[in-house]
Amino acid sequence: MLYMQFQNHKKYMQMAFREAKKAGNRTRTNPLVGAVIVKNGKVISRGYHSFFGGLHAEEVALKKAGNKAKGADLFVTLEPCSTFGKRPPCTHLIQEYGIKSIYFASYDVNPVHSHKAANILKKKGIAVHQIPFEKEQNELNAPYIKCMTSHIPFIILKAGLTLDARLCDQKGNSKWITSKASRVIAHSLRARVNAVLIGAKTFNSDNPRLNIRLKKRNPFDEPDKIILSSSGKLNPRHRLFDQRLKKSRVIVATTPQGKKHFLKLFKEVPRHVFIETFQSSSKKFPLKPLLKKLVRRYCVSSLLVEGGADTLSLFFNADLYDRIVLFYSPRFFGTGRKTCPLFSRKTTHLASQNLRHRISCIQRTGPDVMLVIERKKTSH
Ligand SMILES: NC(=O)c1ccc[n+]([C@@H]2O[C@H](COP(=O)([O-])OP(=O)(O)OC[C@H]3O[C@@H](n4cnc5c(N)ncnc54)[C@H](OP(=O)(O)O)[C@@H]3O)[C@@H](O)[C@H]2O)c1
Repeated sequence: MLYMQFQNHKKYMQMAFREAKKAGNRTRTNPLVGAVIVKNGKVISRGYHSFFGGLHAEEVALKKAGNKAKGADLFVTLEPCSTFGKRPPCTHLIQEYGIKSIYFASYDVNPVHSHKAANILKKKGIAVHQIPFEKEQNELNAPYIKCMTSHIPFIILKAGLTLDARLCDQKGNSKWITSKASRVIAHSLRARVNAVLIGAKTFNSDNPRLNIRLKKRNPFDEPDKIILSSSGKLNPRHRLFDQRLKKSRVIVATTPQGKKHFLKLFKEVPRHVFIETFQSSSKKFPLKPLLKKLVRRYCVSSLLVEGGADTLSLFFNADLYDRIVLFYSPRFFGTGRKTCPLFSRKTTHLASQNLRHRISCIQRTGPDVMLVIERKKTSH
């Protein structure tokens, strides 16, 4: 009997995790959370936190259940919040709606809420149980956990390359190195993050759109686009600056001198373009202040770095990444002045870091192979 009950509880929690995932990249620096309300062995309502600043999962499920919530059990993927923030505390609502017991999967890493709800609810006579789903939670909310604990986004480095690790051919072309199947996956990566970042040379040479182009309508938000350029020398006629095409913010990260140069390129800077300046003693400014600003000012919890080699090398060298996704095309470009390798900068220290990597996925993508590589631990 107890075993059956435990299996059912696990099933409801899995259902709550499925609800949580529905928000995709829309909760930004808020966590993905799902909730399910069960009464007399029947699911009476479900809900999820669907966007940044929106109703919390518990609130959605409780409102849907209405009076029926009285005496029911609530399954929620994260410890409920207990203070007034963008929303009123869920601990109040849980009591107000007459929930009998609550099951949650893990504690919140946000120190404001962490380990608080259980005591509050128990004092109000509500039974509180934890059903640990650590692996699922760490996967689902990796960006939220990273932001909360280190104040910088979860960073994915992505590249399409040849078997001899070249990003461009002899003429410097990098377009369509990989197959259509790889590109579809690359687009679905964009659909899971809040921002995509490239270096100035990629911007100027490829004129990329950096948007999500998937056949299936997806409910996710277009990621913000970030261009790194200390010089500010960016082609003003390129697509990302086109006011008519804008669907998301474009953030130009530059130096004070670069900003002056960039401003001269436009009569009026398009309204979707934001300029952030960073001081630097060398040509390249340090990445951490930019990453912190992305979290604080732009609510970016997950960032996809799409190159080129110079930019990827800087992230590698600064030890600023959590995951690497490489698409290997079955070709060789050999050496040549323009066939830039994955690491265009000196990266000698990487050898000592190799033990910290783990291949978590190997997948065929058409004629290519995709490797997903995880950092074993972060030291940011
Ligand atoms: N195969 C692939 O997956 C792939 C992906 C992307 C790109 N590519 C190819 O790679 C080539 C470009 O790569 P690349 O390595 O030459 O250049 P890149 O990384 O695209 O751009 C380098 C530029 O970005 C700016 N930048 C980067 N980090 C900065 C920092 N920390 N502070 C300030 N500015 C910073 C600088 O611009 P300023 O000079 O303005 O200061 C720098 O010159 C292109 O041909 C592109 O097609 C291939």
